[in-house]
Amino acid sequence: MSGKLRCAIAGCGGIAQVHARALKNMPEAELLAFADIIPQRAEAMAEKFGGRGYGSLEELLDHEQIDVLHICTPHYLHTPMAKTAAELGINIFTEKPPVIDRGQWAELCGLGDKARVGVCFQNRYNGSTRALGGLLASGEPGKILGARGFVTWRRDAPYYTESGWRGSLKTEGGGALINQAVHTLDLMAYFLGAGRVLGASLANRHLKGVIEVEDTLEAALDFGDARGLFYATTAYSVDAPIIFELTCENVTLRLEGERFTRFWKDGRVEQEDFTVSASTVPGKAYWGSSHQRCIEDFYRCVRDKEPFMNDLPGVSDTVELMLSIYEAARGC
Ligand SMILES: NC(=O)c1ccc[n+]([C@@H]2O[C@H](COP(=O)([O-])OP(=O)(O)OC[C@H]3O[C@@H](n4cnc5c(N)ncnc54)[C@H](O)[C@@H]3O)[C@@H](O)[C@H]2O)c1
Repeated sequence: MSGKLRCAIAGCGGIAQVHARALKNMPEAELLAFADIIPQRAEAMAEKFGGRGYGSLEELLDHEQIDVLHICTPHYLHTPMAKTAAELGINIFTEKPPVIDRGQWAELCGLGDKARVGVCFQNRYNGSTRALGGLLASGEPGKILGARGFVTWRRDAPYYTESGWRGSLKTEGGGALINQAVHTLDLMAYFLGAGRVLGASLANRHLKGVIEVEDTLEAALDFGDARGLFYATTAYSVDAPIIFELTCENVTLRLEGERFTRFWKDGRVEQEDFTVSASTVPGKAYWGSSHQRCIEDFYRCVRDKEPFMNDLPGVSDTVELMLSIYEAARGC
């Protein structure tokens, strides 16, 4: 494929703004159109970023010739929208999570070669993640013996009641895990594989009667040589930096937000801060800083016909682990 890739965005809420700004920074992308069931949102984005606004994805696809569709809608719509676009041979870049259950995962994987699907697990592109991955690849840390993930954030009732889709199992698919903590779980699966769920539990600790999804979840995981512990809650008092830690034979590697600390067995402590200034990154700091890099890489891979790191095989360990944790926690 040569020249610019023509693209459009479905779903014009919070995260769509981040995609649009990233695309406007890319000479290789031509942002043509927006769709939202609240047409004023699509029109407002068209006015802000240039292009045309539509009241549905179907209407957009009837009128526009595009190469890439960005899916920024509620969780339950990612798979059906991906299927609609894939039937037309359009490449798909979808927000996380790609699916909310095993049925959708089978459908998505069943798309085969109809289109490329890329998933926005952008934290793989964070400077801190890259540095950690590079050090692991050097062999210096030795074998991974343990992994811990902690996501302790705060979401109050209006976050759910004002959205129309969050807080409901049918439309969000789950709570703290599938929505907020899935990025940290993704890091665990990215470095350790899908593993095995030894046990998991979930609870609604502070929003009973408001949401039917979990605000707290814990899981014990087995990655062969390494044990994993995962804890996610949206019932904390603030959005604390996530903690992701790998204990290795020679060193403990800790990401705290985008600060990367190495605690070597010989007592040395090294630290690098990859935090990107909030003024240079669109979106909220806790989303991570790497939408731009992730989207650019997807476009490069589409153009050069190269495999994309976050294609369906590339994220399957994360999806498997997420679905298995829910199954263990829900007892199904
Ligand atoms: N990668 C990240 O760091 C990150 C951060 C925030 C959100 N997200 C993900 O992005 C997605 C959207 O989240 P958000 O916070 O922007 O939500 P939002 O509620 O702000 O926006 C969703 C938009 O989709 C629209 N919509 C709903 N049904 C539609 C339909 N059938 N057709 C077209 N538009 C429709 C809504 O009207 C709304 O404008 C979610 O999957 C979320 O998990 C990812």
